[in-house]
Amino acid sequence: MILSIESSCDDSAIAITDIKTKKLLFHKKISQELEHSVYGGVVPELAARLHAEALPKILEQVKPYFSELKAVAVTSTPGLAVTLVEGVTMAKAISIALEIPLISVNHLIGHIYSLFIDKETQFPLTVLLVSGGHTQVMQVESIESITTIAKSMDDSFGESFDKVAKMMDLGYPGGPVIQELAKDGDRTRYNFTIPLSQSPLIAFSYSGLKNAVRVALQDASKSDYKDIAASFEHIATMHLVQKLKKYFKKVQPKTFAIVGGASANLYLRSEIEKLLKPHNAKLLLSELKYCSDNAAMIGRVAIEMYEKKMFTHLDELSISAKSSI
Ligand code: KG4
Ligand code: ZN
Repeated sequence: MILSIESSCDDSAIAITDIKTKKLLFHKKISQELEHSVYGGVVPELAARLHAEALPKILEQVKPYFSELKAVAVTSTPGLAVTLVEGVTMAKAISIALEIPLISVNHLIGHIYSLFIDKETQFPLTVLLVSGGHTQVMQVESIESITTIAKSMDDSFGESFDKVAKMMDLGYPGGPVIQELAKDGDRTRYNFTIPLSQSPLIAFSYSGLKNAVRVALQDASKSDYKDIAASFEHIATMHLVQKLKKYFKKVQPKTFAIVGGASANLYLRSEIEKLLKPHNAKLLLSELKYCSDNAAMIGRVAIEMYEKKMFTHLDELSISAKSSI
């Protein structure tokens, strides 16, 4: 079995995964959303202190598995340096105490493997990763062959929902509240511009849209919020659809996946389904509970890395101060 730890942002999570069957045997996550909500975003120092409390509590519960462990895996990048270090320090201590190898997992690869918890992998795959830290399109052939096709030049898709929610005083995380508010809103009332629509680049940008929402909010009353949320969600999604359309002119999608915390967004899911229809492409989605950060996805990557003996020496694993989302 492999014990995996996730602490890259505001979720403390530990999982136990069976190497042979790829089955998830244990998973527990303690989220810090409530604690950060009053600040309208994640406060790194507070997040680190909460990880230091939560991770040992979860670790207590997996003590019965200790004698079966063949490796310990941990998210090492990308993420907030001060929170990553909490998980990495715990993983190193477990590696030393139990004399088992250490596996250092990239968080973004973790999100891709959230599709395959309890399952075999399915490659090649075109992936849209939409989270609080990233908006990326990737072409995945295998764990060792992942090409990034497009990235955000500024804010990410999820982050733009968080910022819009903050401007409306709706707390953190913004994605679920904006989605809920948008449900009854008029998506066409506010004519926000689709970012980079005149540009031939296959890239993303959300800071301009966020500013357009800020301006709209200046003359709005509370009763307009649902229309602003709906129009924002529509344009934020159309931006992704427009750029993917451009990419699909070059590379026909066969199997397409949306992963990351914001892949839970229902409007995004339905618009991507529509986009894929004429291509006859299959859409893969993670189970809702594994869209946002979790340790089950880190454990699933770790099985692949364990089989390929992709271990990391303790001295090679350090978190640089530059390692922020
Ligand atoms: O993957 P994740 O848990 O953390 C990162 O790796 O960043 O993603 C969290 C992000 C937050 O920005 C949150 O607002 C967004 O995912 N999110 C959503 C929805 N649910 C979560 N965004 C849009 N619609 C949603 N339903
Ligand atoms: Zn994530």
